[in-house]
This record gives sequence, structure tokens and C-alpha cells, in this order.
Amino acid sequence: MRTLPDTYSWLGTADPEFLDLAIREIEAADPQATVCRLEGAPGLVWVGGRCSFAALAEAWQAVPPIFLRHLCPIHQEYLFPEGSLGALTLADSLLASIHPDLTFSVQTRLFGKLNLRPFQVNQALAEQVISATGAPLEVKDPQQILSVLILALADGIRVYIGLSHARQNLSNWAGGIHRFRRDPGQISRAEWKLLEAIQVFQIPTVAGGRALDLGAAPGGWTRVLRQHGQEVTAVDPAELDRRLAQDPGIHHYRLSAQAYLDRHPGRFHLILNDMRMDSRDSARLMVNFAPHLEPGGAGVMTLKLPSHHRLQVLQQALRILQGAFPVVKARHLFHNRSEVTVYLQTLATEDLPLPL
Ligand SMILES: C[S@@+](CC[C@H](N)C(=O)[O-])C[C@H]1O[C@@H](n2cnc3c(N)ncnc32)[C@H](O)[C@@H]1O
Repeated sequence: MRTLPDTYSWLGTADPEFLDLAIREIEAADPQATVCRLEGAPGLVWVGGRCSFAALAEAWQAVPPIFLRHLCPIHQEYLFPEGSLGALTLADSLLASIHPDLTFSVQTRLFGKLNLRPFQVNQALAEQVISATGAPLEVKDPQQILSVLILALADGIRVYIGLSHARQNLSNWAGGIHRFRRDPGQISRAEWKLLEAIQVFQIPTVAGGRALDLGAAPGGWTRVLRQHGQEVTAVDPAELDRRLAQDPGIHHYRLSAQAYLDRHPGRFHLILNDMRMDSRDSARLMVNFAPHLEPGGAGVMTLKLPSHHRLQVLQQALRILQGAFPVVKARHLFHNRSEVTVYLQTLATEDLPLPL
């Protein structure tokens, strides 16, 4: 990207159910910011900050927020009376900021009654970018993103457009809405949670690695782990889906995780936990399983959030985990409902302290 003037206005997105917690994260990062919910656009806030978009994005790349799923800058904002494609134009200053050698994509979100489809807007604006700059279009993994939000309100249609490096947005997907193609062999919708976690946290899966799946039934995560070349020990008192029964790479123990830990612990490269239980109990169990990770091994778990005191419960669970894992990263992913996904890292062999 060329010298793009920084901006103090940006849009933040979170799951509507957790928007209040995302707003707290924004206010903690930029206490003087003005944060407004956008009428007609659930899960979205407009932010007028004291900190610039670039400064916040940099801070959040280092330590990502849990509930704020996506952010994008606002460089152009206008009323759009006709609501027609022809009237949608990119400012010359914005076009001049697009780097011609970097890939780009246009990501459009529409809210309210509009005679437009996101792909039409994407296409129309991508044509403007290509003809003005020659930058290559790359929809899946772009380096620069033109984010467009069109909002139909009672008093008119408002358009917000901003340009950013893909990494500044916290997600390569419009609004962090990360969709996967439906797979006819899918066992549970929980599979998407693990697929999303693998991408978001860049979880390494070594071919031939050993994974322990706690709370495995009906077997969605187990299936995903098999697809990633893992030999899986699945622990759950409940049955696994029949389609997994013949797979010699799956060893099912019909036990609780606690009973399994007492009787059969082995060593694993990955320990996963999607058990439905109080977050703090689940975190304590994960701590008890930590010595069974190989050096450099990792954990992935979901922390179920209660309807009351959810932030307090989450913070307690995270503190318990921090007692055993040097790196604890938590995000409310698109496929999470009332839970967050946590990635737990141990130290790699080369990072372990030398013996005295
Ligand atoms: C949300 S489901 C897991 C879905 C699974 N990850 C999938 O992809 O299909 C939660 C599971 O946790 C299991 N569970 C709850 N408490 C458990 C415990 N103490 N030990 C082992 N499994 C437990 C339940 O039996 C249930 O099957």
C-alpha cells in the first residue's frame, strides 16, 4: 500500500450477543474513543478514536482482542441517495493509495433494504480498482482489502469504504464471517469450530501426530483431526458416529476425561477439549492434562460461557490456564456460540530452559 493517510474512524464487528464485551475491549484500548452501535446493523459499531486505526490494528495484531472479531478503517463515507451501482465510486485519493503490485479484494457487507447484492458491489468496485491501478484481484488471500459497508436506514443509504492491509483487519473474511463449504460427510457443526481455529491460530498438525480429543462425541473434531493426518484418541462416555467405527486411526475410550486421566494417560502432540462443562472445571482438567503434551505440543479448547457473569468466569478460566501454559490465546470465532475457543501453547524443545 502507498502512503495511506491514517484514519481515526473505523468499523468494528463482533457477534451481536457479545457486542457489549467487544465495546469494552475497544474502550480499554482507546479510553477516549466514541463508540456508536449502528442502527440496523447488529454486531457493528462505528468508532471515532483518539488512537488511529493503524495504531490499534498494530496493537491488536500482537495481542488480539477476544470478542472484537474484525475491524476496518473508514476513509470514505457518504450518503448514497440512489442506491444504484453506477453511483458507487471510489475517491481518487483512495485509488491512489492502492498498491499496484499487491493483491487486493473488495469485501462488501449490506444491511437493510437494498436492491444490490454484495457480489455486484465487489465486482463493480474491483473493476474500478483494476482499471485505475492494475492491482491483481485475489479474493481468498488478499494482501490489501477494500472494505465496504452499505447501510439502508430510514433517512437514507450510507456508504463506508476503507482500505487496509489484510492483517490489520484481524480476519481475511468480510466482518470475520468465516464460511466453509458444506461437506456431505460432516458429522457435527462443531467441525467448523475446529477448522476455523486451525486457520485462525495457525495450529500446526504434524502428519502422524497423536491427538487426544476430550469430549469427542459424536466425532466431528475427531473426523477433522483424521483429515489432518492425526492418530486420534477420542474420550467420551457417549457413542461416536457409526461412520468412524471402522477407522483404525481412532481409539475410542467410553470414559469421562477424569477417568481416562487416572487410567490411561499417554503423550500427545495435540490435546483438544470441547467438553460441555463449567469453564473453570474444564480449564483445571486441561491443566492436569498439560504434562501429557509432548514438548512444543499444543492444546485447543472451548470455554463455555454462562449467561451471567460470563466475563468474570472467562477471566477465571484463562487465569487457571495461564498457570500451566506459557501462551494462551482466546478468540470468539464466527462458529462459536456461547463459548470462546482457546489455543494453548507449550514451549518447543529449543525454547525449554537448559538444565542446570
Ligand atoms: C459439544 S459436544 C462435543 C462435540 C464434538 N467436539 C464434535 O465435534 O462432535 C460435548 C461432549 O462433551 C462430552 N462430555 C461432557 N463431560 C465430559 C467429561 N467429563 N468427559 C468426557 N466427555 C464429556 C459430552 O458427552 C458431549 O459428547
